[in-house]
Amino acid sequence: MPVPDPTARPGAPRPGAPTLGPPSPGRGDPPRRTTRPNVPTLEDGTFDLIGVGAGPSNLALAIAVEERAAEPAGVRARFLERSARFGWHRDMLLDDTTMQVSFLKDLVTLRNPTSDFSFLSFLHARARLVDFINHKTLFPLREEFHDYLSWVAARVADQIRYDHEVLAVRPVRSGRGGPDGRGAITELEVLARRGDATAVSARTRNLVLGTGLVPRLPDGVTASNRIWHNAHMLTRLQDLDPVAPGRFVVVGAGQSAAEVTAYLHDRYPDTEVCAVFSRFGYSPADDSPFANRVFDPEAVEEFYAAPADVKRMILDYHGNTNYSVVDLELIQDLYHRAYREKVLGRHRLHCFNVSRVADVVEGPDGLSVDIVSMTTGQKTQLTADAIVFCTGYDPVDPAALLGNLVGHCRRDLDGRYRVQRDYRLETSPELQVGIYLQGGTEHSHGLTSSLLSNIAIRAGEILDSVSRRTRSLVG
Ligand code: FDA
Repeated sequence: MPVPDPTARPGAPRPGAPTLGPPSPGRGDPPRRTTRPNVPTLEDGTFDLIGVGAGPSNLALAIAVEERAAEPAGVRARFLERSARFGWHRDMLLDDTTMQVSFLKDLVTLRNPTSDFSFLSFLHARARLVDFINHKTLFPLREEFHDYLSWVAARVADQIRYDHEVLAVRPVRSGRGGPDGRGAITELEVLARRGDATAVSARTRNLVLGTGLVPRLPDGVTASNRIWHNAHMLTRLQDLDPVAPGRFVVVGAGQSAAEVTAYLHDRYPDTEVCAVFSRFGYSPADDSPFANRVFDPEAVEEFYAAPADVKRMILDYHGNTNYSVVDLELIQDLYHRAYREKVLGRHRLHCFNVSRVADVVEGPDGLSVDIVSMTTGQKTQLTADAIVFCTGYDPVDPAALLGNLVGHCRRDLDGRYRVQRDYRLETSPELQVGIYLQGGTEHSHGLTSSLLSNIAIRAGEILDSVSRRTRSLVG
């Protein structure tokens, strides 16, 4: 029986991970060195903040740290990133795809409009400012935004350690704040694996998890060279047999599915592309101005304060600003292609609406895919070279890194983490380290949780909180 691909989960130790030694002993006073003798330290001393991941969320935080470095309460921070170099959804950098958010919601402008880390400063540095203005768009190419993010990453590179995958964190105790005279947990030891498979550790008083989302495949689907999630799109496509493919199946009705469908249709002029989705048709993303307010910084405030049933209502009403929806222009483009083919009598783009993929069988030369209409029950069997599941993402469960420490994290009645307004996990008094979430907070802070819209403000709020905690320790 096939199972979902566990290797797609960031944070889960991969086979062959180096041994990081036994867990820290949990007792002691004064603070004890728990760093394993065989695990070298990243740098001496204890950091005020370690960020896991160096995607846009933690890059925004790195900018805030840099901009406030000169202040008396400047914090000493490092960000550990598992990739060898900066990258933002590289496998979805499809030709001509654009951002779904205004460039003014870059990594810094909403927090500090005069910052020289803004998208406008980037354009100026690239000598393209006036050309961009003439273009009259708020939505740059995704390639261009990737270039912006890479430019930021290069400017804060001294804070980032690439090729460092965080595998676990362990408690470091001191004083007598814990039960039975055991010390309270006042620091964390962060254990990472370098690209060359050696282990390394670092101490911190605050941890910021910015590990992004995990691609979600439907239950029972196992990834292969012909079966993949769109998160691996360009790499898998490159690996496919160089002979021109005969047919692709694309599953899903969201923005990524529509983009992948259009991309494959463009790139392979003789190939059939079959889009399969349970909706009647692609539905447009609501990016109208009043609805867009749900992404405002003030909306986070309101959402956070709202009762649970109102939170659910807001997410239901406005899910169509983000989930399972497509830019109207792209919908019109796909419809135009399908109609044109009808006129010319040469059908390459097929839509199986109100349908689902019931079975995928992989053979040596390709796939056999069963598609079932949900209205009539009629089954269509297709051969295909590859199937792309554009079936969304899940937030990473912090438990993957926190291990036993999750026992100290408080949950709500639905079992979700309780998160404070400053994005800090609510913990038992024994756990005195600040653990902050960048992402995975949709239930508490609303729809901006996994998006770029509020990243600049959120980074400032997290840094304010860390700075306050740092000052209180010093003072
Ligand atoms: P992100 O996933 O970008 O970064 C997480 C980083 O953590 C990665 O670099 C990863 O390697 C690293 N990492 C994970 N586990 C680790 C570990 N254990 N140790 C070390 N490093 C680890 N949003 C929006 O507002 N407008 C838009 O236009 C788009 N467009 C868009 C296109 C596509 C194709 C996708 C898939 C998503 C979007 N998004 C979006 C949403 C997207 O989630 C958002 O743009 C950011 O990527 C969120 O940034 P993060 O840094 O939180 O996660």
